[in-house]
Amino acid sequence: MAFDTDTYARTVSPVGFDDLDYASFTERPLSAGALRCLRYMCDIENHTVCYLRDLLVTPSHADPEVTTFLTMWAYEEYWHGEALARVLAAHGIPTGDGHIRQVREGLGWRDRLTPVGTSLIANLIGADFVAVHMTWGAINEWSTHAGYARLAELEDHPVLTRLLDRIMRQETRHVAFYASQARERLRGSAHARRLTRFALRRFWAPVGAGVMPRAETGHLMRFLLGDARGRMLATQIDEKIDRLPGLAGLGLVRRASSSYAVA
Ligand SMILES: [Fe+2]
Ligand SMILES: [Fe+2]
Repeated sequence: MAFDTDTYARTVSPVGFDDLDYASFTERPLSAGALRCLRYMCDIENHTVCYLRDLLVTPSHADPEVTTFLTMWAYEEYWHGEALARVLAAHGIPTGDGHIRQVREGLGWRDRLTPVGTSLIANLIGADFVAVHMTWGAINEWSTHAGYARLAELEDHPVLTRLLDRIMRQETRHVAFYASQARERLRGSAHARRLTRFALRRFWAPVGAGVMPRAETGHLMRFLLGDARGRMLATQIDEKIDRLPGLAGLGLVRRASSSYAVA
């Protein structure tokens, strides 16, 4: 079924997190490994507006349905960052503007030039670039949803689970938009299928890998996907990618999880 962007825009809301019992983390704190994952996830949710900066200089900005979605998407992801920051703060881990500024400034000059390079390449490609963007978004939202589900399962902490369930419900709508757009755009153009397949094979990396140090992406991969159940979840994401037109057999997530896990 096609995604109804108008209904989505009318129903976006900040994820609820003020009502949760953060004192429960004093009695039963999360594991150090889980907190390291949450730090990563919080930093990446907070980075959404920077990803948006990079995407608005591409042909995606010309499609009003895409820009309506992106406006709302960035809003919801902002609140995911705020919600995860509350859990980190309950464990005494620094959050807030000072930390976010440090993450962004730490990326250096290459990050500042990213919109220039992206704009040049994407505009030379033209409208089929949007298929790459939408497919990339679908894969990243599938990965994010799976990551939150796995973290909730591993920690089995009632407050964390409640919060992550609420976040995951919103991630499910992000998945629905990106995947329906990707499916449609890939189905409609052989060039888009070839281009997307090439771009994913050549450049795709796990969510946040371009922003976080490699050791942190490695920890995330080991912690969430390192055992038999994790490998099964990675395979399930790859199978979802396989079902997109022209993208069968890439094995992106399994390959990335094993290469980053040994880093
Ligand atoms: Fe999110
Ligand atoms: Fe999302």
